[in-house]
Amino acid sequence: MNQHATIPGQGHNSAERLARLHETTSRLNLFEFWGIDPNDEHQATNRLRADRIPAIPYIWKYKDMYPVLLEAAEVIPMEMSERRSIIMVNPALRPIVATVSTLFAAYRINTPHEMMPPHRHSPNAIRFGLTGDTNFTGVHGENITFGPGDLVLTPHDTWHNHGNGPDEASVNLSVLDMPLVNILNATYFEFDYREMENGKLVEKKIQSANVPDDYSQRYYGTGGLTPRFINHHRGAGTSSPMFVYRWEDTDKLLRRVRDHEGSPYEGILVEYTNPTTGGPVYKTMTFFTQLLRPGEKLLPVRQNASQICTVFKGSGSSIIGGKTFQWEPFDTFCIPGGDWYEHANTSTEDAIILVSSDEPTLRALGFSLKHGKNRDGETVVLESSTQREA
Ligand SMILES: [Fe+2]
Repeated sequence: MNQHATIPGQGHNSAERLARLHETTSRLNLFEFWGIDPNDEHQATNRLRADRIPAIPYIWKYKDMYPVLLEAAEVIPMEMSERRSIIMVNPALRPIVATVSTLFAAYRINTPHEMMPPHRHSPNAIRFGLTGDTNFTGVHGENITFGPGDLVLTPHDTWHNHGNGPDEASVNLSVLDMPLVNILNATYFEFDYREMENGKLVEKKIQSANVPDDYSQRYYGTGGLTPRFINHHRGAGTSSPMFVYRWEDTDKLLRRVRDHEGSPYEGILVEYTNPTTGGPVYKTMTFFTQLLRPGEKLLPVRQNASQICTVFKGSGSSIIGGKTFQWEPFDTFCIPGGDWYEHANTSTEDAIILVSSDEPTLRALGFSLKHGKNRDGETVVLESSTQREA
């Protein structure tokens, strides 16, 4: 090797040598982390950043999806496929199946008496009832029948089975952290559910109940009071031990606090928490009910957590990344991390949104950063892992 080579940019034949160098880096699967434009001192970094494909703000209208759900319920019977969900894919992230870079959301319809066999997986998931009163999920031996506004956890590595009771076709929302778990190379699914019977492990199509149906509500349903005589390690022990959060309780709280002025940036925002820690229900994702009162318009916010918003009640509009989205019940829209957004309830009724966020991941890794624009239009730091200035 010639230790005294001419520096390419300074010698003759530099274009030819650069081209040869480029050929070699391509052949060796190397990325050229340098710039070649003397007028652009950050060209190298900009080229590297351009490699990142961000999600875009987007809305999936329920009126478009509902006919698809109905049609799927008819043409895809359970005997053909145990799964029958439609996942909302961010157009910018295709072919990756993700709504925002770390999470995906899906709608599922279950006709009466449908029941899929138990399974478990490493991604964490929630289900949120939209229509029908007999959505069903058995989680770690707790049989949970749920309806509109109820939030059910199916945590990491915990056996569960989904279905529907005798009611009419029921629709619910699922949110999973699977895109994140995929990137971490930690995704697995298991289907060989077995239970001990007469001293032998026997394969089962239905999960037997091992706690009362109202276990979560009975032991964890009164905020501020936690029983000391039960084991809070349920399933894999990585989540809240309360597996269902009833709409009745959420609604009661919202009614009690709705006269508070709330946050000018986030309105009346209530987080679903782990009753034993006060923290989020999962290490990766957290969930909020957001109430926007009639005519309420929030100030702009930008955070690096990514969010998926599902409208439960009411209607309004949101400006996300400079684009306006009109929303109504059961629409789902996404707010990719890094985009400015602001919500407004443009109607004369309360609007309620279920917000799913990867905020706990950002916080755990020390990346959380949230800015707002105050009433004077100044950018202010609302949250920072590193006490950063605006
Ligand atoms: Fe599942």
